[in-house]
Amino acid sequence: MDKHILDSLDHNEIYKLVINSLPVGIIIFDKGGHIIEVNPAAERLTGYSRADLLGKCCGEMGGGLFDMITQPVEKVEEYLSSTPSTPDADVKEAILISKSGERIPILYFDSALLDKENHICGMVKMFRDISYEKRMRQKHRILISMFAHDLKAPVAIAGGFLSRLLLGKAGPLNEKQRHYLSVIENELKKLDNHIHSFLDILRMEAGEIKLSLEKCSLKKIIYDIAEEFEEKVLSRNMKLRIHTPERNVIVMVDKEQIERVLVNLIDNSIKYSPPGTAIDITVEDHNRYILCSVKDEGPGIPEEDLPYIFDPFYRSSAMEKSKGPDDGTGVGLAVVKSIVEAHRGEVWVKSKKGEGTTISFSIPKIEDIDKN
Ligand SMILES: Nc1ncnc2c1ncn2[C@@H]1O[C@H](COP(=O)(O)OP(=O)(O)O)[C@@H](O)[C@H]1O
Ligand SMILES: [Mg+2]
Repeated sequence: MDKHILDSLDHNEIYKLVINSLPVGIIIFDKGGHIIEVNPAAERLTGYSRADLLGKCCGEMGGGLFDMITQPVEKVEEYLSSTPSTPDADVKEAILISKSGERIPILYFDSALLDKENHICGMVKMFRDISYEKRMRQKHRILISMFAHDLKAPVAIAGGFLSRLLLGKAGPLNEKQRHYLSVIENELKKLDNHIHSFLDILRMEAGEIKLSLEKCSLKKIIYDIAEEFEEKVLSRNMKLRIHTPERNVIVMVDKEQIERVLVNLIDNSIKYSPPGTAIDITVEDHNRYILCSVKDEGPGIPEEDLPYIFDPFYRSSAMEKSKGPDDGTGVGLAVVKSIVEAHRGEVWVKSKKGEGTTISFSIPKIEDIDKN
């Protein structure tokens, strides 16, 4: 029966049927960034009718239809090339501001429309409401965070009694007993460290760590941090080289948090690279974003670990074997990712086993990134 329905339609009609029925918002732009087509889901999600939207630019719609476009997309080509291309930059999260002012979390991606000669003739933006997933994630987060909080007290109490034992308050200890107890103490410290790092990550993901944005000189931040690392770098006979544009690079960031990002990246490069090697910190000032990278000549990261290194608590198995287990908690890069993403930036890694590691991040040059 159903087959008959499709049989009676030509190709164009089938495409139309699909686009009209999809629960995914679709907005098509011409080369100049004007809306030339929308589907019913886009009307439903944005609250604007097709007639409201046609011919407009995103930025013209009330407070801005999408927060990632604070200005009209003047030239689609420029817009598409202004976001750095990273392996997982395809699908992004954003807030859609509907006609009634409601802020709807969405997942979206942009794709160039190509004509027969492969020239860009426009752009299609597809987006999906993720409010439900967000609410579910939030519920989970609260549960996990309560659990982690509950772990803190028993660990602290156990640590207290352990200290008393080690101080001989329950009688003298022999060598073996002392040794065993210090092993327990060490492990307990690690557990405590993990719990705190974990809560840190949860707080960041929940957006509880609010950014206090200010105009800063990125060059100054980097030179100051480099100075702090000077002793450590020299003691390992390493070199820390900084490459920045001549002119000042002013960014709108939370200074303390961006310092944390750089400290984590530089610390990793020093920690994981052999003595005598060099670390290069590079800043590039692009049209819409600042790009910063930390490159080292260390052992590199095995390909199988690459997809996971930004996950909390993930440490490369190669590292675990070569370094003492005390060396880090595997949280540093997860913190880096949270901070960069809170600034609406992206972070990615380029590394090959035996060929060093480069970790780069971008920060968009938008003054009102804190509006969300
Ligand atoms: N510059 C680097 N060179 C080699 N491996 C790295 C580098 N940076 C990070 N890694 C790998 O990524 C893992 C996660 O890093 P991170 O989150 O900072 O945790 P930690 O440093 O506490 O182990 C590290 O354990 C290591 O395996
Ligand atoms: Mg680290």
